[in-house]
Amino acid sequence: YLMVLDSIDVYEILAIATIEECRNKGIAQELLDKIKTKDIFLEVRKSNEKAINFYKKNNFKQISIRKGYYSDPTEDAIIMKMEVNNE
Ligand SMILES: CC(C)(COP(=O)(O)OP(=O)(O)OC[C@H]1O[C@@H](n2cnc3c(N)ncnc32)[C@H](O)[C@@H]1OP(=O)(O)O)[C@@H](O)C(=O)NCCC(=O)NCCS
Repeated sequence: YLMVLDSIDVYEILAIATIEECRNKGIAQELLDKIKTKDIFLEVRKSNEKAINFYKKNNFKQISIRKGYYSDPTEDAIIMKMEVNNE
């Protein structure tokens, strides 16, 4: 699934996930491709390498860090943005 906040000129990804048995088959890619019509923002746990790799592959750039944003366990959030014109 992909859950998105749709604002006037930007999307914010609230959540994206693929069921574990079905990962690495391009499903998240297919979902993301559907919303590449506006700039996209998101936040991700600093340790979430799989997701960060996936976003970098899709031209998302780190724009800032929110210190201690997540709880259980406490962790920084990386804020990333994809500008649609750079695609
Ligand atoms: C991140 C997630 C949504 C990717 O879903 P998916 O359907 O497996 O993704 P796709 O098959 O479309 O894309 C695969 C890409 O993910 C990244 N990736 C997947 N597994 C990886 C791993 N073990 N290590 C590093 N990168 C990985 C790579 O960029 C990979 O592309 P590549 O094969 O060209 O290297 C999935 O791993 C997931 O549901 N994770 C748990 C939920 C989550 O963390 N969501 C993000 C919250 S911000």
